Amino acid sequence: MRASQALVERVRQVSADLVQADLAVEPALMQLKAGQGLLVRPHQQVGWEPYLRELWLPVDIRPGRLTVELSSSWLPVPGDVLDVLSPVGRPIPVRPRLQHLLLITEDALPTPFILLARTLSGGGVAITLVLSGLAARYPLELLSPEVEIVRGDLDWPWPEQVQTLQWADQVLVLAPHYRQAEVYARWLDRVQQVRPDAVADHFVCGLFYDRLACGAGACGACEVPTRDRDKPWLACTDGPAVDLRKVMFL
Ligand code: FES
Repeated sequence: MRASQALVERVRQVSADLVQADLAVEPALMQLKAGQGLLVRPHQQVGWEPYLRELWLPVDIRPGRLTVELSSSWLPVPGDVLDVLSPVGRPIPVRPRLQHLLLITEDALPTPFILLARTLSGGGVAITLVLSGLAARYPLELLSPEVEIVRGDLDWPWPEQVQTLQWADQVLVLAPHYRQAEVYARWLDRVQQVRPDAVADHFVCGLFYDRLACGAGACGACEVPTRDRDKPWLACTDGPAVDLRKVMFL
């Protein structure tokens, strides 16, 4: 992880609780992959400085410009200079020869999936995105038109859920930190019921985007309990995506 600065060029409100900001960044940041993020704070802000850096996730990367999507406690304005640590985390692992990807969000905005969906749909992967709970508030016009959208329900399976699971070559699930254990355990169980044949690594993954403290693997605050007791799994350096079969659900 290395330190750099970014300049906020544009900020636009894209929904009632979401903004997108275009950042001018140094070339190394253009290499970020879906799943990786930036730890950000204002540069030399007079009179106020957040104690913890915010994790910002890119939703689009074009030459000379990186776009992030934010619903954070503080929002930038054009002209702001930011202190940036990056990259945070590893790219989301994509299974070899992936053709059908199922993305499921429960009660979380699908921002962590946007760059992945944009990248893979451009490469011919068929993507279905299930939005339920708070996720249904996401403005659909921000999604690639190639992505199939399914409105889910927190308590009931959407129609054709079994067929959708049978169709998928990989399943990625996103939930807010306060529901991760419940949601991820339920989806692991559901996928294993419908697809007992799907035993490949990373077939069903959960994403862990907890509030990060150091962001560098030093403090242990973001550890996720796994079956491998000898090697702690840290969301900031090993994540955000973990094979749910490896997670120890308490
Ligand atoms: S945030 Fe400190 S180890 Fe991950």
